[in-house]
Amino acid sequence: MRIPLEPQHRTPLFRQIEAHLRRSIASGRLPAGTRLPSTRRLASDLGVNRLTVENAYAELEADGLIAGRAGSGTYVLAASPLPPLPPRDASAPWPRWQRELAGRRGATLGDPLGRTPAPARHRHLIRLDGGTGDPRLFPAEEFRKVIQGVMRREGASALGYGDPGGFFPLRRTIAHVLTAQGVPARPENVLVTAGSQRALALVSALLLRPGDAVVVERPTYAGALELFRAHGLRIVGVPIDAQGMRVEELETLLLQHHPRLIYTLPTFQNPTGACLSAPRRRQLLALAARHSVPILEDDYVGDLRYEGRAQPALKASDPQGHVIYVSTFSKMLMPGLRTGFLVAEGPVLDGLRQLQRVEELATCNLMQRALEAYITVGRYQAHLRRASRLYRRRRDAMLRAVERSLPSQVQVEAPAGGLFLWLRLPEGYSSAELLPVAEAAGVRIAPGGDFFPDAGDGARFLRLCFAAHEPEELLEGVRRLATALRSAEHPAPPAVGRRRGPGNERGAVEHGRAEQLPSLPPRA
Ligand SMILES: Cc1ncc(COP(=O)(O)O)c(C=O)c1O
Repeated sequence: MRIPLEPQHRTPLFRQIEAHLRRSIASGRLPAGTRLPSTRRLASDLGVNRLTVENAYAELEADGLIAGRAGSGTYVLAASPLPPLPPRDASAPWPRWQRELAGRRGATLGDPLGRTPAPARHRHLIRLDGGTGDPRLFPAEEFRKVIQGVMRREGASALGYGDPGGFFPLRRTIAHVLTAQGVPARPENVLVTAGSQRALALVSALLLRPGDAVVVERPTYAGALELFRAHGLRIVGVPIDAQGMRVEELETLLLQHHPRLIYTLPTFQNPTGACLSAPRRRQLLALAARHSVPILEDDYVGDLRYEGRAQPALKASDPQGHVIYVSTFSKMLMPGLRTGFLVAEGPVLDGLRQLQRVEELATCNLMQRALEAYITVGRYQAHLRRASRLYRRRRDAMLRAVERSLPSQVQVEAPAGGLFLWLRLPEGYSSAELLPVAEAAGVRIAPGGDFFPDAGDGARFLRLCFAAHEPEELLEGVRRLATALRSAEHPAPPAVGRRRGPGNERGAVEHGRAEQLPSLPPRA
């Protein structure tokens, strides 16, 4: 493909390529369905860097003009985007039922996972705010073959509604895996859900009413906080330390607030990475039983362990059925599968199953069959081993980068598994204020406030995901964060600070930097 370029022109080359392709698509010279040259090929034809072409394609893709198809190439989508909607008369009121809705709970919540991201101002923004593994590791090609195999073998039966409780062979496989891990599950006790978020929502809808109290760790998973807020619940936070939830503080809260549910992430907690110690696991189970409060155990990355021995899940020591266990294939495999599950027994399981049936009819039959085939032939386990090896290296790379680039007063501990590092900034810093500065420096972080029932409590914290990037990208991301910290406005920090000493299995990172945070000019 020939595209006339003017290297001396002040319009960047990628914009020149983008504009040329945009004109060609609009004029019909590149009709819908045209396969564009690969970025490597076009870069070589034009004598430019491959990244230049990638940027041009990314802009066109963002506008819905072209789309990449995995393993096949990039195609023109349509000669022109959809015609614009007729403008809405801003003075015309919404229908009454819409106006009534505006004040109601649920209708005014923001993005369920924090905030709607601001449009990237930096051309190569490094996103460390994510909450999944690396999409480049998703076994897309293998999965395509597995889906094709399912379609070939099972045909139309894979496309019916299927069992409302989940594809039985998948439930059986899940039960086998859990039993091997010490959770004595039977297929009848497994309910497959559209992701674990759906499982959390089902439990909330069945067990909780607006105004009920729910106990969470402080901090905890932002999506659960949003969900509980949407249900109008009172959220009661229990502090957390290196050994997980501070269970010794729980009993007073149980007596004070009479919660209807305890939501906990005992393994590689999101966001802190902490693991609940064995004695605390026992205490938590005993307390829940004594006060007859169900535990919702969210085991979202339990198999992404990089060292140490796994603690059995709470559900492994639950003969009386106090624990509703929830897990997902989103983090350990791919979130787009939208496949998670819960394990429970007794009336609560019946209630959850019925709720799922009336609200959803069934979860995606084809995807469950494909997943079952994928696990049964051993590919899932192989993927997990590979991902764990890689993520471990990335965790170490990010820890090294933090050690090397960030001021020594920034505290962090090495998690034994999972996806995240949880950083504590020195006094006087605010991660919410740091966010736009970091963004301008080219890195996106997850500010701590998102993870606390009361956002203000998270001001000095931030979460970084190490799993989704190569070590060099992590290094660069942390370097940019260091730049942002240096230029963030804040009151002058105190002189010294040190990381916590070695904790439990997470082992604190020691580092020998003497560097101090630079003193910045006081706020104007
Ligand atoms: C702790 C935790 N639980 C549950 C979920 C929901 O995941 P999914 O609905 O994709 O299974 C997430 C997603 O970020 C999470 O971090």
